[in-house]
Amino acid sequence: MGRRAAALAAAAGATAVAAAACSPSLEPGANEGDVFHLALNQTETHPSYIALDRWGEHLAEQTGGRWTIDIYPNETLGAQAEALQLVSDGSVELAIVSGPQLENLNRDFIALNLPTTFDDIDHQMRVVHDMAVVGELYSSLEETNNITVLGGFTQGERSVYTAFGPVSSPADLAGQKLRVQESELNIAMAQALGASATPMAYGELYTGLQAGVVDAAENNEVSYASQRHFEVAPHWSYTRHQVGLDYLVVNSDVLASMTEADRAVFAEGWELARATHVELWRAATEEAVITAEEGGATFHEVDASVFREALEPLAERFLTTETQWEIYDGARAASTEPSG
Ligand code: GCU
Repeated sequence: MGRRAAALAAAAGATAVAAAACSPSLEPGANEGDVFHLALNQTETHPSYIALDRWGEHLAEQTGGRWTIDIYPNETLGAQAEALQLVSDGSVELAIVSGPQLENLNRDFIALNLPTTFDDIDHQMRVVHDMAVVGELYSSLEETNNITVLGGFTQGERSVYTAFGPVSSPADLAGQKLRVQESELNIAMAQALGASATPMAYGELYTGLQAGVVDAAENNEVSYASQRHFEVAPHWSYTRHQVGLDYLVVNSDVLASMTEADRAVFAEGWELARATHVELWRAATEEAVITAEEGGATFHEVDASVFREALEPLAERFLTTETQWEIYDGARAASTEPSG
């Protein structure tokens, strides 16, 4: 069975399991136990998996095993766009999805996806759990999609890597096919960098690079190493063009069905997962560089400011409503860098 067929078969299986497990009660506040199926597109060694696993342990321990979290890594429940749909229809209860996926459901998420939103990881983490800035945004999908956003894990700084050589300015990307995450903003980002944008799911990227469907991609070091992209695109350039964000999304009905006490334990466990993720991230990034270098990759320092300049106009272009500006300005206000 091909990878995609296997993923869909697994998703169908999980759907049946989830449907059976969920049937007892979705009455608000009345459900005393269930299995959360969690869709993830990373490997078991990725900090997100480890942090989420810690969450599951906490939840099971504190509820005497009434609530548990089963993590399905490596896109076994489908790529992120499919996983998001499964959470929306309740077949899967939890997923980690990247910012661009939510932008496709509500354009207000663009305010947190722009390359100029966050200076660094600390800035990002201060903003994405500050409910005064993000509270309304996180509940904005409840009515429309039955999805609640709980918060996020950092993706760290994303940089460009290629099969063909270092990229020291956007001119080096001219005419090259750059894989991007599937959203309008991400397509515009690639174009602003002079590349030809090719949206593609994460799990398809290794073969995409290998077959020459794309010439380049952009991500953090941890993904570069854990997905073994360095084998097919060995030139990494530190463009540091974006601090990316992954969101934890939960089916709103399932969340509301938990008793208040269990929901508090669930929230506490999620905080533990976030803290674990932050703790693990830096070391994982350093290890990833070593792994990639041992596998033949070269890391090039380049002048990141030229990439930043090329991407700066996107804020004006993509933020079109007062709400979007409010979120963006709220995020920027938490920057400790001098404004200007
Ligand atoms: C990162 C991020 C994923 C995302 C991926 C991508 O690895 O953590 O959520 O899917 O980038 O570029 O698609």
